[in-house]
Amino acid sequence: MKVVSVVGARPQLVKLAPIAAAFAGSGHEHVIVHTGQHYDADLSDVFFTGLGIPDPDVHLGVGSGSHGAQTGGVLTAIDPVLAEQRPDWVLVYGDTNSTLAGALSAVKQHIRVAHLEAGLRSFNRRMPEEHNRVLTDHAADLLLAPTEEALRHLANEGLAERAVLSGDVMVDVCLRVRDAVLAGEHARPTLPDGIDPDQPYLVATLHRPDNTDDPARLAALVAALADLPVPVALLAHPRLVARATEQGLKLNQGAVHAGRPLGYAGLVAAVLGSVGVVTDSGGLQKEAYLLGRACTTLRPETEWVETLEGDWNRLIPDPDALGRPAWIEAATRPTPSAEQGLPYGDGHAAERVVEILAQRLG
Ligand code: UD1
Repeated sequence: MKVVSVVGARPQLVKLAPIAAAFAGSGHEHVIVHTGQHYDADLSDVFFTGLGIPDPDVHLGVGSGSHGAQTGGVLTAIDPVLAEQRPDWVLVYGDTNSTLAGALSAVKQHIRVAHLEAGLRSFNRRMPEEHNRVLTDHAADLLLAPTEEALRHLANEGLAERAVLSGDVMVDVCLRVRDAVLAGEHARPTLPDGIDPDQPYLVATLHRPDNTDDPARLAALVAALADLPVPVALLAHPRLVARATEQGLKLNQGAVHAGRPLGYAGLVAAVLGSVGVVTDSGGLQKEAYLLGRACTTLRPETEWVETLEGDWNRLIPDPDALGRPAWIEAATRPTPSAEQGLPYGDGHAAERVVEILAQRLG
């Protein structure tokens, strides 16, 4: 069996790590195509080196642009690559512009498409990710659902026959890296200047267009973080830095200490060392859950609804609407004690994905 993985953005590289490991030594051929959607070393290279992923076989070098330019750029560049490779499967990951373009190119060339992390829904049509995941699910031949909830969404859209529960490959990588961090196999992460790793701190990230692109909203969110009584390590995505610079907004204010994004082991160590997480990232909500830290999500909804059980994750779309005392109480609430169960699987999803791909070929 020959499988081409199409990746391009940071969260896809994290999910690629356990998949590439599961392919190694499986006897199957695995080809990695990097679209170049993310190109900064902090968002791309550090994941290949840090997670031991083989270098991409093909790099499309597409880079940033409007949704149309970026999606179209990947589509144009990947067509000849898939035509030449003619794999048994094209495996696309998650919900980025690279995901949609990879799926579209493959389906048009009558190459089977499998969608990893299928069936997630926010039901928020303002999110570019929501368009990408719905369109990709409907284009794909095989839908690898991470959760029962995702499987239900697919069934509701008439896609049950193509769907299978694989578990979430992020659990595989997160737990493996957690164990390595706890065993002292990684250097301490470089937290932003002003954060003392031995004192309580929160980890924060912000990158969703709905939070970063409106100047009033971004200023209000940064002010809410700035007013927290605990230092906030803000691991700033380039989109956040770019928007803040354009808007003349200072990220370093009050409790906020902004710094660069971390590699994966660094992020896991930073969360383990923290008293909680404040974020709008899908992946980080789940990492906080898996690592046993309270998460406060600056969005009106989440695709990862299982994290909301037992108050492990709390949705706060608008801190100002809560008022400062309630916001501070929420974002600094103690670590929940509720039992979690295993809604995201057992840490062996990637091996299962490889098996399912091989079985479905037969
Ligand atoms: C993309 C995904 C999003 C995912 C996120 C993870 C889409 C529509 N969005 O959002 O689902 O959660 O990745 O990080 O696919 N930039 C750099 N260097 C880089 C990459 C980006 O400076 O290496 C800056 C550029 O100003 C660029 C902006 O970040 O315009 C946004 O990048 P883009 O790839 O369009 O989307 P993300 O916000 O990263």
